[in-house]
Amino acid sequence: KDPVKIAVLGCGTVGTQVVRLLTEQADDLAWRVGAPVVLEGVYVRDTSVPRDAVVPVDALTSDVEALIDAADVVVEVMGGIEPARTHILQAIAAGASVVTANKALLAAHGPELYEAADAAGVDLYFEAAVAGAIPIVRPVRESLAGDHVTRILGIVNGTTNYVLDEMTTKGLAYEDVVAEAQRLGYAEADPTADVEGYDAAAKAAILASLAFHQRVSLDVVHREGISSVTAADVAAAAESGHAIKLLAIAERADEGVAVRVHPALVPLSHPLAGVHGAFNAVFVEAEAAGELMFYGQGAGGAPTASAVLGDIVSVARHIAQGGRGPLESNYADSPVLDIDQVTSRF
Ligand code: NAP
Ligand code: HSE
Repeated sequence: KDPVKIAVLGCGTVGTQVVRLLTEQADDLAWRVGAPVVLEGVYVRDTSVPRDAVVPVDALTSDVEALIDAADVVVEVMGGIEPARTHILQAIAAGASVVTANKALLAAHGPELYEAADAAGVDLYFEAAVAGAIPIVRPVRESLAGDHVTRILGIVNGTTNYVLDEMTTKGLAYEDVVAEAQRLGYAEADPTADVEGYDAAAKAAILASLAFHQRVSLDVVHREGISSVTAADVAAAAESGHAIKLLAIAERADEGVAVRVHPALVPLSHPLAGVHGAFNAVFVEAEAAGELMFYGQGAGGAPTASAVLGDIVSVARHIAQGGRGPLESNYADSPVLDIDQVTSRF
């Protein structure tokens, strides 16, 4: 079988670990895919910047156009809207399948990307875009596609959970914990996206789109972050038997769907109160399946790279063995309800 050639765009926290796993697991990947899976190259802005030793120096290139043209699968782990959007569209136009971890891009431009991929007959996979290592996109997108999801409720941002947790358990100051979350590779390039709830809102928009098969973009998600939560709030919550958690909630209502992100008082008896550090947890309620819970590491290079590698295997299998992932361009346009139109539970 011809090798499946992988281009990695971006070599930061996640990209480095993707390259490491691609290299270290080459034999297993070939066996699972049914063809060799080879690293074609890694796009970086400056090839002279020293990189982690796991990244082969001769794989680095700043010629993104040539790299995309040579690839069967383009893995976008740069982040941000541009030039990530343009490079993904270039890859699709060149007939490559795409794997991305970029929730901000999907929440803002998902329909454009889905339509381009569907029209070109290539895959667009994004398991790592929601809740790091936790398989949640595939279950909602595929495993539950024959059921009727009614509500998704979860902790989907590792940075804010880590910050609130450290403030609660160690009494540390907010600013110090945010800096530590950046150092540990949990936070976005601009941690405002985490602490102000934009990252969780993007993930909520993606999950709601998949679960309810309709267009939900970031700008219609009600969003409140944790920057105004004080150490005194955290202490008062603990005294009353609660933990403060940043929750993302997407639910189906008779009139449409409601999607929101805000800090909430979670009773200590509830399983979500026991989600610590950068871990995430997502509850899914579906008519036939009932309640499901997904739990695991929601941020960090290696956990996120695990989800990216799973997507690489899926799309590489389609290239080597035939088949396609699900189409996402035929979404409905139902109303998205305002926060005051929903009955708040949690
Ligand atoms: P990061 O550490 O900031 O790495 C981003 C990489 O992309 C850097 O190597 C950066 O290059 C490169 N890059 C950015 N803009 C570029 C441009 N215009 N041209 C060329 N290269 C560019 O970010 P990350 O944490 O790995 O996150 C990457 C993506 O994964 C983001 O979409 C993020 O939301 C998502 N994600 C991250 C996590 C996590 O825990 N970190 C989890 C899930 C999903 P320089 O080195 O030159 O700056
Ligand atoms: N910054 C994100 C978080 C990375 O803290 O959850 C994972 O998407």
